Amino acid sequence: MNHRPFFLAALLALVLPACAPAEPPAYQHRFEHAERWSKEFDDPSRDAWQQPDRVIAAMQLQPGMTVADVGAGTGYFEPHLSRAVGDGGHVLALDVEPDMVRHLTERAAREKLANVVARQVTPDDPSLEPASVDRVLIVDTWHHVSGRAAYAARLRTALRPFGKLVIVDFRLDAHRGPPPAHRLAPEEVIRELQAGGLDAAVVDAGLPEQYVVVATAPVAR
Ligand SMILES: C[S@@+](CC[C@H](N)C(=O)[O-])C[C@H]1O[C@@H](n2cnc3c(N)ncnc32)[C@H](O)[C@@H]1O
Repeated sequence: MNHRPFFLAALLALVLPACAPAEPPAYQHRFEHAERWSKEFDDPSRDAWQQPDRVIAAMQLQPGMTVADVGAGTGYFEPHLSRAVGDGGHVLALDVEPDMVRHLTERAAREKLANVVARQVTPDDPSLEPASVDRVLIVDTWHHVSGRAAYAARLRTALRPFGKLVIVDFRLDAHRGPPPAHRLAPEEVIRELQAGGLDAAVVDAGLPEQYVVVATAPVAR
């Protein structure tokens, strides 16, 4: 029996991942003191460039859906997500910072967002059950995540059939956002999502400073 093809396949399986281009490092940055960050993230002037209604439209949300907001921060998107999924839906506001989670919980109670639940997660795991969410939103946070291909694979597992992952982040030439050296080109984000087993493409949501990448799990044939 000729063992050569099996040997070659095994060798390629070992060598190819090592040949894949390395991910740019994550922008390691703490977000403590939620009230302080809220002044920036929830500044009323943000609506003009963030255009949350366009982000919500790009997500194609339906009443009754479950949506996870990974890196929810101070909860800028929570009122929008809460409204879009309605009383029968669920919003999981996830963040690594305990003070953000406290703030998110208090905000949801204060603003009577009964379908919003805040949870603390670890940096490498959104802790979502398999096939448990219809949409995942990640705004201005993907560039803070380490091991993004592996993280994308976890999100893929969490998506229900026909679920979508929507990543919004700053363009390389945006007038605001993280320091330019820490920004990720949309092509890089797509490459990382594909490495995690997702199909991904840029969609034109018409945002002035940010791109929107939408990813889906490939349909089984
Ligand atoms: C720039 S803020 C964006 C907040 C919010 N998405 C918004 O648009 O206002 C990034 C947030 O992501 C959180 N974060 C960073 N890395 C994370 C990770 N691996 N998993 C979950 N949250 C993360 C930070 O604690 C912070 O609250």
